[in-house]
Amino acid sequence: MTAPLFSTVGIVGTGAMGRGIAQIAAQAGSTVLLFDTQAEAVAKARDALGAQWDKLVEKGRLTADTAAAHKQRLQPAAALADLAGCDLVVEAIVERLDVKKSLFAELEGIVQPGAVLATNTSSLSVTAIAAALQRPAQFAGYHFFNPVPLMKVVEVIAGLKTDAAVCQRLAGYARQMGHTPVQAEDTPGFIVNHAGRGYGTEALRIVSEGVADFATIDRILKDQVGFKLGPFELMDLTALDVSHPVMESIYRQYYDEPRYRPSVITAQRLAGGVVGKKVGDGFYKYAGGAAQIAPEPPVTQVDEMPPVWVSTRAARRAELYQLLKDLGAKIETGQSPSPQALTLVAPLGFDVTTVAVVERLDPARTVGIDMLVDDAATKRRVLATNPATRSDMRDAAHALFARDGKAVSVIRDSGGFVTQRVVATIVNIAADMCQQRVCSPQDLETAVTLGLGYPLGPLAMGDRYGPANILEVLFNMQTVYGDPRYRPSPWLRRRGAIGLSLMHEEE
Ligand code: NAI
Repeated sequence: MTAPLFSTVGIVGTGAMGRGIAQIAAQAGSTVLLFDTQAEAVAKARDALGAQWDKLVEKGRLTADTAAAHKQRLQPAAALADLAGCDLVVEAIVERLDVKKSLFAELEGIVQPGAVLATNTSSLSVTAIAAALQRPAQFAGYHFFNPVPLMKVVEVIAGLKTDAAVCQRLAGYARQMGHTPVQAEDTPGFIVNHAGRGYGTEALRIVSEGVADFATIDRILKDQVGFKLGPFELMDLTALDVSHPVMESIYRQYYDEPRYRPSVITAQRLAGGVVGKKVGDGFYKYAGGAAQIAPEPPVTQVDEMPPVWVSTRAARRAELYQLLKDLGAKIETGQSPSPQALTLVAPLGFDVTTVAVVERLDPARTVGIDMLVDDAATKRRVLATNPATRSDMRDAAHALFARDGKAVSVIRDSGGFVTQRVVATIVNIAADMCQQRVCSPQDLETAVTLGLGYPLGPLAMGDRYGPANILEVLFNMQTVYGDPRYRPSPWLRRRGAIGLSLMHEEE
C-alpha cells in the first residue's frame, strides 16, 4: 500500500456519512480519529465497522491481519482538541450553517496551519462555511454519497478562496480510498444534486398535467431509456422528506430559476406524511417491502384493423414505415389518408392535437407515436391520443403496435411525449451546467453515472437521441407551453450540430 496523502484524518460527526468516510480512510492506510458530541455514536461507529471487517474475514475477502490493522487505525477522540495532530479533518455533522461555521472556527485553532479542513455538506455553500476562517485557502468541500463505501464518487468543491493544490490533494486522496473524484465549483447542488433536477421534476410535471399516471411514467422511462428506477420509484426510495427540501433549496438558491421549479404534488405528499417506502406509503403502497403495482391496461382485441397512413413530417419516417410493414399493417401511400385510415403522426416536442390541426388531418383518427427513440433499441412503444381521438382508433393503434408482443403505453396528449420531455430536460440542465462551468463535461458524465446511476451521462444521452432532435423538442415545447423552463441552453444550441460529448473544447 502506498503511503496515504493524509496520514492522520479526523472525522467529526460519526453518523451515516462520517462512519463511511472513516471506513475508506482507514482502509487506505490513514490513522482515523473519530469525534462526535454523542460519545456513544463513536463507539457505535467503531463497533459497526469492526463487525463489517470481521464479516469480510469470514467470507475470505479480507485477511485477519488486514482487518486487525484497519481496526487499530480507527481511534476514538474524547475531545475536539484531540484532533490537533490531524493533517485532514472531514466534518459530517448536522446540516446547519451556523453549527458548521462555529465548528470550523474552533478546529482552525486546534490543528496545525498546514492541515486541510473539509466539509461533507450536501446543500450549503462551501464559501459561506469558510467565510469566518483565518485560512479559507485550506478549506474545501468533500461531498460523498450514501452509502459511502459503495457510492464510489466524491465531489471536491473549491470555495471562492480555496487553494487549487488543496483540491488536488483531496482528489488524490479520494483515489487512494478507491473513489473517483470530480471537481465542482461552489454552486447550488454542486454536480450530482444539480444534474439530478431534470428527472423527477419533469416527471412530476407530466403527472400534474394528467398526461399519464406514476406507474406508466416509471415503466416508460425504464423501458425506453434504460433507467434502473423510474422517477417515482426513486422518489419513494429516497423519501420525500429528503428529496422535496433538496428540490426547494436548489430552486430558491438559483433565485427561482424555472428549470428547477418543484411540484405542489411532492409538497402536499410531504405535508401528509406520504413520503415513500420507509413509511410503507408513497407513490406506491408497499407490502413486505415490495411495491404494489397495478397491472397494465390490457390490449383491446380489434376485429378489423383499419389501413394506416403516416404523416409526411413524422420523425424517423422510414423506420416507422418499416416497423408498420414488419407488424403487417395495411399501409396507405396516398397524399392524404383515406376516410377509413388510422392516421399516425410522430412529432418532436409538439402535441398531437396541434400537429393534426396544422397538417389538416382528421383529429378523430389521429394518434401520435414517440419516434425519438429507435424502435429496435426500446422495450416499449408509446402512443398518445388527442382529445378528439375515437376509441376505436386508439384501440386499433394499441393493438397494431402490440402485435409483436412489445409493451405499449397509451398516454394523453401533451407537448412532447414522456421520454422526449424527461430526456430533453435532463440534457438541457446538463448543457447549462457546462455553460456555467460548474464542472468539466467529463466530470459531469462521471458524476452522474456514478452518483445517480443513470444508464448514460446526460451529454452521451443527448448524443444518443440526437442533439438536433433534443433541440427541436425544446424549441417546440417552449412554443407549446410558453414556459422558459424549456428554453434551450446556449451551450446546447451551439453543440446541437456538432455533438455534446465532444470533450476537447476550448470555448
Ligand atoms: P447523521 O445524523 O447520521 O450523523 C450526524 C452526526 O453528527 C451525529 O452522530 C451527531 O451526533 C453528530 N453531531 C451533530 N452535531 C455535532 C457537532 N457539533 N460536533 C460533533 N458531532 C456532531 O447525519 P449524516 O446523514 O451522516 O449527515 C452528515 C452530513 O453529511 C450532513 O451535512 C449531510 O448534509 C451530509 N450528507 C449526507 C448524506 C446522506 O445521504 N445522509 C449524503 C451526503 C452528505
